[in-house]
Amino acid sequence: MNPLHRPVRMHIASVGVSKFCFLFSLAFCGLLLLLIPALQPPARQVDLPQPRPHTRPTQVGLSHHSQVLAVSVHAEKTDSATRLNGNSVGQEGSIQTEIIRNDKKEMDAKGSPERGALPGGKGGALSGSNSHDPLELKDIFIAVKTTRKYHKSRLELLIQTWVSQAKEQTYMFTDGEDRELQMRTGANIINTNCSAAHTRQALCCKMSVEYDKFIESQKKWFCHVDDDNYVILPSLLWVLSSYHHSQDVYLGRPSLDHPIEAAERVKSDGSVSVKFWFATGGAGFCISRGLALKMSPWASLGNFISTAEKIRLPDDCTIGYIIEALLEVSLTHTRLFHSHLENLQKLPADSILKQVTLSYGGFENRRNVVSIVGGFSLAEDPTRFKTVHCLLYPDTDWCPKPKPRHKN
Ligand SMILES: *[C@@H]1O[C@H](CO)[C@@H](O)[C@H](O)[C@H]1NC(C)=O
Repeated sequence: MNPLHRPVRMHIASVGVSKFCFLFSLAFCGLLLLLIPALQPPARQVDLPQPRPHTRPTQVGLSHHSQVLAVSVHAEKTDSATRLNGNSVGQEGSIQTEIIRNDKKEMDAKGSPERGALPGGKGGALSGSNSHDPLELKDIFIAVKTTRKYHKSRLELLIQTWVSQAKEQTYMFTDGEDRELQMRTGANIINTNCSAAHTRQALCCKMSVEYDKFIESQKKWFCHVDDDNYVILPSLLWVLSSYHHSQDVYLGRPSLDHPIEAAERVKSDGSVSVKFWFATGGAGFCISRGLALKMSPWASLGNFISTAEKIRLPDDCTIGYIIEALLEVSLTHTRLFHSHLENLQKLPADSILKQVTLSYGGFENRRNVVSIVGGFSLAEDPTRFKTVHCLLYPDTDWCPKPKPRHKN
């Protein structure tokens, strides 16, 4: 028996009138409790079947699961922001839904159900951009991290392929001057003046410049990729359209199947450790402008380098640390981003063009490329990037023209 009950009861017994009042209020409270559920549900039931704004024709791929997910999210909170979230889940096509569903299962198994594919609804200011302000390619700032020695072997291939479709908003962050490449291709090449060494300091120095240039650009999304990534721009645009740039969105592929643990040396003295997920830089990742602005105290104007130095972790881990550990915003896990560390041959051929980023194994692993068949042989196109590009943009002048079937 609760020891607290005895003195209370004794007190009530000593004053007769209080006892009556006490019993009366108990009865009243009970009545109220009975009434609450009877009053609430009608409002929700009216709210649920309301049509959601349609913006794109991709709704056909709506699976049963994504509908359930959308509805359950919708029922949890009833503000318009949640309705937009529910809608964005519904807009995922079958493959994306499948991927996100798998990710969600993984997260649930780990006991953190809040880490779904949905971005943190903390952003609040969702004015429904999906309905009257569709995301365009020009709203995305794409940073390609490279180094002087890969200008010829890697960068030129990117400039010839996907970068040609997003020339204005793609910036290559390197560590040496290359006026010739800049003049010949018209590409945006930024000499960061960072060291060309493949050290943590040099990589963080480049990320720091990327961040500052993005903030300066006023664009809605920051996407970082490596110089061995092919960015499938229509997929990127489609995936980012599911979110609003004022929400807190950090989207990418975790490089490990568990969060990383590091000593907390920014908020405390390093005696406690923090666990956080981070998106692997080699597969590319995207950050909404809203979230990027919140990162400013630890990321802008060289602060990124000192943050990375404090926790002694590489550039992509430091991004994860700032977002997950310091800002307490969760990484939205996606399997649409790919690095050369994966087995790329395993990607189903019919899903390749629906991914957001692709990659290829370098010198060490030449055969680790996506299995796609098209205009170029493996000898002509060892990375498969030209083949992918010609399937996406068949009108490109250097793409093999399909042989005409009929002669007129
Ligand atoms: C790198 O150095 C050059 C020459 O000093 C300068 O013009 C340029 O702005 C620097 N780049 C960055 C990103 O600071």
